[in-house]
Amino acid sequence: MNEPRKPLTLHRLREMHAKGEPVAMLTCYDASSAKLLDAAGVDCLLIGDSLGMVLQGHSSTVPVSLADMAYHTACVARGNRSAWVIGDLPFGSYQESKEQAMRSATVLMQAGAHMVKLEGGGWTAETVRFLVDRGVPVCAHLGLTPQSVHALGGYRIQGRDEESAATMKRHARELSDAGAAMLVLELVPSALANEVTRETSFITIGIGAGKGCGGQVLVLHDMLGITQGRLPRFVRNFMEGSPSIEAAVRSYVADVKARRFPDDALHGY
Ligand code: KIV
Repeated sequence: MNEPRKPLTLHRLREMHAKGEPVAMLTCYDASSAKLLDAAGVDCLLIGDSLGMVLQGHSSTVPVSLADMAYHTACVARGNRSAWVIGDLPFGSYQESKEQAMRSATVLMQAGAHMVKLEGGGWTAETVRFLVDRGVPVCAHLGLTPQSVHALGGYRIQGRDEESAATMKRHARELSDAGAAMLVLELVPSALANEVTRETSFITIGIGAGKGCGGQVLVLHDMLGITQGRLPRFVRNFMEGSPSIEAAVRSYVADVKARRFPDDALHGY
């Protein structure tokens, strides 16, 4: 019989990254899914504020509250045994000041998160440093940052031209220098994501950012084919050809680890 997996730590995730083993992350919002995903070998469970769209039916992540995030983080933490748990700081819970961010991070960490994620470029670097200095591991998020969807003019690819690519690389360096341990890169051309991955010490986690990142994340309901309507091209429905949800999740983990997913020709930009 297989030994139960040891609880994932940041140290262990960094070792995996240093050895070139991709990190498999999925969003997760409830205890039953957490139990299943953990047993299927998912390394990191992200309680994403995407729950505003996926669970609550909003058209963006903007309406999600810190209380919502704390509730779902606690649910996931109760179901999880060994995966690394990341709680998303929702819109309005960290933008005001680094002190506000620390208060909000405290709520998520006390609900069971091991790390918090926040969106945005260089302006968040001071906040990242403040949190990291106080013992809160941070995952940054660049590229398409859904909390800014109204400012960005929709869910579109970021960093396509030379100037915006250079800005994204500068922001990535600033966030890395500030001590963020992970960086989600969303809807970014794979060549740019590869450069950021090579030039920084983050574990980069791609979603629509090509196979060269240090790991991958998808929204659980998208990769299980539950989400209705047109999906972004970076999504693959892992339920197709899978006999069960557990098998679909195991095949996602295996494909991320073997760099079979994403296939840049099908899912890249
Ligand atoms: O909220 C979320 O689920 C996310 C992922 C899509 C990266 O931020």
